[in-house]
Amino acid sequence: MYDTALIEKTKNHVFSLLQNEKSGHDWWHIYRVWKIARFIALKEKANLFTVEIAALLHDIADWKVNNGDLEAGPKAARDWLIKFNVTNAIIEEICQIIFDMSFKGAGVKSDMKTLEGKVVQDADRLDALGAIGIARAFTFGGHIGQLIHDPSIKPQFHSNFESYKQNRSTSINHFHEKLLLLKDRMNTQTAKAMAKKRSQYMEDFIQCFLQEWDEIYV
Ligand code: ADP
Ligand code: NI
Repeated sequence: MYDTALIEKTKNHVFSLLQNEKSGHDWWHIYRVWKIARFIALKEKANLFTVEIAALLHDIADWKVNNGDLEAGPKAARDWLIKFNVTNAIIEEICQIIFDMSFKGAGVKSDMKTLEGKVVQDADRLDALGAIGIARAFTFGGHIGQLIHDPSIKPQFHSNFESYKQNRSTSINHFHEKLLLLKDRMNTQTAKAMAKKRSQYMEDFIQCFLQEWDEIYV
């Protein structure tokens, strides 16, 4: 059942929680993920209500801003949805999507169990790619106080969530550690096509960045 009023209430709730967020998980990130997720869901024939609510709630308590607690996000979503006329099964499905979708390291699998989960994960990942993805990477890097680039720090490929979480790297390395890997990890055909274009733009950016860097030091 598609509950337009609850989508609107959830939108207002998330806006009030994230309007002043400063790490790139702000309201406009949620807005873009919500709209991309809706677009992919229509193409892939996924359940729109589940997709839209999960997209809206997916970052209200992310582990990166909650001391590494992977349960904080699903709990915050459950605490919100439980107030309304939503079945337990749908609430748990949405909480599972939020728990599963976060990227936990290059070597850590994060398989989505449902089509709706695949769609929301794709939408979130698309917003980490392209020109917007570049802007978000440096915003996040500045937020946590990491360097733009340091040639002496090499990218690391994390095989477990603990090491990814504790990683101190650079924003340029983040492209190799995560962002450039995403195009091959899209779930749906719709997102794969969108990711290809956005990823190419980032590859061109990195190439250009490193060229300029070398120009300074020759
Ligand atoms: P997800 O929503 O899959 O959990 P993240 O929350 O890890 O994704 O990432 C959110 C945004 O912050 C993305 O645009 C990502 O590129 C950026 N980001 C996350 N970690 C880093 C990092 N260590 N350096 C630079 N940017 C980062
Ligand atoms: Ni997100």
